[in-house]
Amino acid sequence: MGKYIIAGNWKMNKLPSETYDFVKEVAAATEGAKCEVVCCTPYVCLAEAVKAAKDTHVKIGAENLHFEDKGAFTGEVSADMLVDLGVDYVIIGHSERRQYFAETDETVNLKTKKALEKGLIPIVCVGESLEEREAGITMDLIAIQVKKAFAGIEAADAKKVVIAYEPIWAIGTGKTATAEQAQEVCEGIRKIFAELYCDKCAAEVTIQYGGSMNAGNAAELLAKNDIDGGLIGGASLKSADFAVIVKAAQ
Ligand code: 13P
Repeated sequence: MGKYIIAGNWKMNKLPSETYDFVKEVAAATEGAKCEVVCCTPYVCLAEAVKAAKDTHVKIGAENLHFEDKGAFTGEVSADMLVDLGVDYVIIGHSERRQYFAETDETVNLKTKKALEKGLIPIVCVGESLEEREAGITMDLIAIQVKKAFAGIEAADAKKVVIAYEPIWAIGTGKTATAEQAQEVCEGIRKIFAELYCDKCAAEVTIQYGGSMNAGNAAELLAKNDIDGGLIGGASLKSADFAVIVKAAQ
């Protein structure tokens, strides 16, 4: 299956002045990791994060980007700016951005294409709300999100994308999906990917689970066949907890 990637999503937490020491702490705590270790930080922390990660195994990601190259887009940040800083990854279409900042499957697609064009690795988030799960339409909805995110993207590029399955009801709630629920959807995503591209492509793509993953439940989730890593919110803010999750991915 895909390459294992454990990525922290700091969201709107930590200060630029705390970033250097914290990334160094993460690097020390996860030394010798057998999987890819990524810290996705707020824009204003990225420069310090990249500096701290230099000459370590830790990779740095942003939490968003704009899909245009440049221009009159006050407050936005382009892919070129992230690349110029030395950033490797970028989270796209997190449910918080869809919910609070009007991101749509269309903007997710534009951003994913732009990130790929510029050599950034997109972590594309998909996931259902509690109402959608209870209505029994989880997989239909995820299929739409995945198909729209990958519209117009060729197989060679598509394989580079990391897909993060994050059920909205499990984010920041302490209510994790069971390993079986998470596996079921991640397996479904791999099938959709196989239909869009090929079986080999589907075997190679990395599919993460995110939503209240923590030091206590990571091992069980990561043991599932189709879960190749995690996108970690709260537990990525404590280096010791994050390191336990990284170890669980080995
Ligand atoms: P929590 O781990 O805090 O639930 O957040 C998950 C998430 O949204 C990661 O992107």
